[in-house]
Amino acid sequence: MSAQTVSQDQITEAVAALRRGECVGLPTETVYGLAADARNPAAVRRVFALKARPADHPLIVHLPSTQYLSTFAREIPDAAWRYAEQHWPGPLTLVLKRALDVPLEVTGSQDTIALRIPAHPVALAVLRAFEGGLAAPSANRFGRISPTRAAHVHSEFGENLPIVLDGGDCAVGIESTIVDLSGGAPRILRPGMLTAEQLGIAVVTARTGEQTPRVPGALEQHYAPRTPLYLCSRDDLSANRAGVQVLAIGDLPVGSNGVSLPRDPQRYAHGLYAALRELDARGAQALHAELPPNGAAWEAIVDRLKRAAAGTRTP
Ligand code: TXA
Ligand code: MG
Repeated sequence: MSAQTVSQDQITEAVAALRRGECVGLPTETVYGLAADARNPAAVRRVFALKARPADHPLIVHLPSTQYLSTFAREIPDAAWRYAEQHWPGPLTLVLKRALDVPLEVTGSQDTIALRIPAHPVALAVLRAFEGGLAAPSANRFGRISPTRAAHVHSEFGENLPIVLDGGDCAVGIESTIVDLSGGAPRILRPGMLTAEQLGIAVVTARTGEQTPRVPGALEQHYAPRTPLYLCSRDDLSANRAGVQVLAIGDLPVGSNGVSLPRDPQRYAHGLYAALRELDARGAQALHAELPPNGAAWEAIVDRLKRAAAGTRTP
């Protein structure tokens, strides 16, 4: 599958549906999004209803170009224009003060708004033809694993979402890095494959090697398979147990059942959510995921694994 499988007619049809206030499944370079017209409160409410997402969880608005930045944000600091120039289109979301006419449905009634320009050619084609902002959370039901293939989106929403543009597998594979620029120094709210170092953001490194600040608040269960998931050292992973499927790094321990992902963090992230979905479908009693090594390149991956495991009690 590739981006070429989406025709101009399909783009035109998707844009017409968006203009009517309908939702559309859309590939981005990070994960698939559930898109709706950001200026249409009824359309945005439909996104929340489809996802069963609480209304106070704000959405990311996707823009066709930086020209739209000042129509969705106000008091835009120089740093925002710099990040936009360096990293957009790309897997970076900026939190800014919202323009006063942005529907409150989009921002969860907050005074800030999350914005990004995605790098996927299909998303960009839709945005440019739409000529406006599209609110698009990840196209999964609330709390579940984000989709990185059109088939994942179909399995989340079925006939409730007739239009899903198939842009192939998402290149990055996990959600964008979110940087808060709405006041004071830039702050990372959600780690992504674009690291703090690449963004030139200083992070305090505690003695344990853990990086702060992390995502605010407690680790809520998120990106979660239905099967209980535990994070394990390589040694614990090797202890072969009946009913357990493993998610290993590099190679599968001898005698274990499961999936292995590459030792390279970019390639691991690319395959992570599809692997979790596949393992979840195997009807195991538990999933054991090998803890990745320390280091900034793995931080966003460890964050997603910890969230996926957060709903599971210790065995
Ligand atoms: O890569 C991505 O960012 C994907 C693709 C589709 O663009 N989108 C995505 O959306 O991950 P979603 O809705 O699953 O996650 C949006 C995150 C949430 O954690 C939300 O709390 C945060 O963005 N967010 C949105 N608006 C915010 C705001 N004004 N201030 C702080 N966080 C905000
Ligand atoms: Mg999400």
